[in-house]
Amino acid sequence: MEVGRFPATRLRRLRQSPALRDLVRETVLTPNDLIQPIFVEEGIDEPLPVASMPGVDRIPERRLEREIEQLAKDGVKSVMLFGVSHHKDPAGSDAWRPDGLVARVVRHAKRAAPELVVIPDLCFCEYTDHGHCGVLEGGTVLNDATLENLGRQAVTAVEAGADMVAPSGMMDGQVTAIRRALDVAGHPDAPIMAYSSKFASAFYGPFRAAAGCELKGDRKTYQSDPMNGREALRESLLDAEEGADILMVKPGLPYLDVLARLRDRTLLPIAAYQVSGEYAMIRFAAAAGAIDEAQVVRETLGAFKRAGADLILSYFTRTVISEGI
Ligand code: PBG
Repeated sequence: MEVGRFPATRLRRLRQSPALRDLVRETVLTPNDLIQPIFVEEGIDEPLPVASMPGVDRIPERRLEREIEQLAKDGVKSVMLFGVSHHKDPAGSDAWRPDGLVARVVRHAKRAAPELVVIPDLCFCEYTDHGHCGVLEGGTVLNDATLENLGRQAVTAVEAGADMVAPSGMMDGQVTAIRRALDVAGHPDAPIMAYSSKFASAFYGPFRAAAGCELKGDRKTYQSDPMNGREALRESLLDAEEGADILMVKPGLPYLDVLARLRDRTLLPIAAYQVSGEYAMIRFAAAAGAIDEAQVVRETLGAFKRAGADLILSYFTRTVISEGI
C-alpha cells in the first residue's frame, strides 16, 4: 500500500479560498449582537467631543431624538444610555426622579425609535457630586442604602419605557434588590442585564471624562480585583442566582479568560463590554498608522463571540454596522 505523504493532517486544506473559509467559519458577528453606548448631556446646545475617545461626542439632550433616529436608520438595534448630569448631589437622586435625566433620556430614545432596545446604565456615579457609585459615608460607599436607591432608579427607568435595566455599581445584592423593586411596582417582565463580573479597571479612564464622573480615589472596595478570576466567576454566578437575565464581563479583551470560563458555567446569555480604554487604544493606534482599524475592530468583536459572548457593547457598533460587518 502506498504510504500517504507527510503530513497527513493538513489544516490548510480548508483555507484555500474565501468561500471555503466562510463555509467552516465558527463565529459570525451580526448587527443583532451589538449595543451602542451613548453619552447624553443635559443643558448643552452643541455636541461635545470627548478628547480621549476620538469619534465619540456627548450628545446634547435636546438633540438625542434626532441622534437616535439616525442610529436606527443606520441599522443599530440597541443602545445603552449614560446621562451626563448637571444636577449632582451626595446620593445621586436625580437618577431616580420621574422627571430626572435617566427617565428623560429613556423617553426621548423610545419616542424617536420605539423598536430600538433601550437600556439605561443603572448607577449613581454620573449623578453623585463625589463621583462614587452610591451613597458615601466616611469615605465608604454604603452598600444597603445604595440598594434602596437602585430599586427606585430601576422602577423610574422602566416606567419611562426602558426595555431592560443594567446595574453597573457592583453593590452586593443589587440584582435581588432591583428584581424585588420591579416586581413590587408591577414590572415582572422587565429584564435585568447585570454588570456581574466587573473589574476595578484602569481601562475605564476615558469613560470617566466622557461621562463626567471623575472621582478622588478609586472603586476598589466595590469592583472586582483585576487579578481575581475565580472571584469574578462567583460574582456572576451569584447574580444569576439573584435573578439576572443576562450576565456581563467587563472590560472585554483583557478578560476573555473570565468570559470563556463563565460560558462553561452558565446557560444565561453573556454580554461583553469593550470599554472606553479599549476603544481609545484601537483608535489611537490606528491614527498613528500602527494597525488597520476596521480589521482590528472586527477581530476583537469576533474574539468576544468566540470566547462565549452573545451580546457585545462597543463604541464601534455604529461604524461597524453602517460600514457592513
Ligand atoms: C458606571 C460605569 C462605568 C463604565 C460603565 N458604567 C465606569 C466605572 O465603573 O468607573 C465604564 C464603561 C467604559 O469604560 O467604557 N459605573
